Amino acid sequence: MRKVPVNCLEPGMRLARAVLGTGGEVYLNAGVTLTQKYIRKLEAIGFYSVYVEDRLLDGVTVQDVISEKTRRDAIIEVRKALTEVSRPGMKAINVAQEITVTADSIVSELLRNPYATVNLVDIRAEGAYLFHHSVNVCVLSVLTGINYGLQKEQLVNLGVGALLHDAGKVRVPPEILNKPGSLTDEEFDQIKLHCAYGRDILKDHPAASVIAYAHHERYNGEGYPLGLKGRDINYLAQMVGMADVYDALTSDRCYRKAHAPHDALELISGSGNWWFDTKLVYNFLCCVAAYPTGTLVQLSSGEIGVVVDTPQGYSFFPNVRVLLNAQGQKVLPYLLSTVKENLWVNRVLDDVEVQTIRNMLETS
Ligand SMILES: [Fe+2]
Repeated sequence: MRKVPVNCLEPGMRLARAVLGTGGEVYLNAGVTLTQKYIRKLEAIGFYSVYVEDRLLDGVTVQDVISEKTRRDAIIEVRKALTEVSRPGMKAINVAQEITVTADSIVSELLRNPYATVNLVDIRAEGAYLFHHSVNVCVLSVLTGINYGLQKEQLVNLGVGALLHDAGKVRVPPEILNKPGSLTDEEFDQIKLHCAYGRDILKDHPAASVIAYAHHERYNGEGYPLGLKGRDINYLAQMVGMADVYDALTSDRCYRKAHAPHDALELISGSGNWWFDTKLVYNFLCCVAAYPTGTLVQLSSGEIGVVVDTPQGYSFFPNVRVLLNAQGQKVLPYLLSTVKENLWVNRVLDDVEVQTIRNMLETS
């Protein structure tokens, strides 16, 4: 399967993954054949891209690190929790307790599959950004925590904090939160307050409260709200901060296109002891694939192929199904491990090149 921008979809393409609506409900199921009507509706709801089936990846299954049901349930619970905390007088302890069950089920599922590599970029509509983002930040943080060697109880605390890290945003005026253009200094000051709001909302859950308060602190002291430095920043909050940056960069927003995962990962990998503790950066990098399955790449050997998977711990070194040799000629596809062959990815092919190769393979 491959991720295709909604404006490039054509009737007849089949969805490879379910499309979840703003509240976590299944909007379109995997296997559905797209029609013009569906494509127009996806555009109208605010989706930027979806996953469709791809003949270049026949025989390859792309697994999310958690099941679709767990992800869907988590989105529903986060939405419920954030709606509850936005009501004045709501007792925050209830929210953190309710969300513990959700965090526990995500942690339990990831612990059953500890060598999972995140191979998918989450698909979401603009209006549902915060709920989907919170669940994704939770998954990425917990995987980092597992790599770091945290025990189950700490992982669940980390999960609760990650799911609710932006809970304070419910108290920031929506016209500032959703402003498409650049923010004035005063508006940015208002946004920064979401950390303190989150700390207060979650005050009865100490771990989640610290995470909500410190997830924008940066190792070099340039973060907020306190400008803490180095090891003074809670390490769980740093894990959530890293996941927050990565997920935000790789998401399409109304004001900019998503960054490719390898660009976002390069940024994170260069941030050791600058934005985040180097050891935590290493633990994060271990569990995310720089070139998700389905990405068309040119290797240092000149061969061109499609990424099939990525071994854990080697984020930038995928296994590739080679389709064209270094001279650009079609070959009988073969599998190549960039780790074993001492190769690397030279570049990711752009949409025009992908379409040209696709046409070439289908007509020859
Ligand atoms: Fe935040």
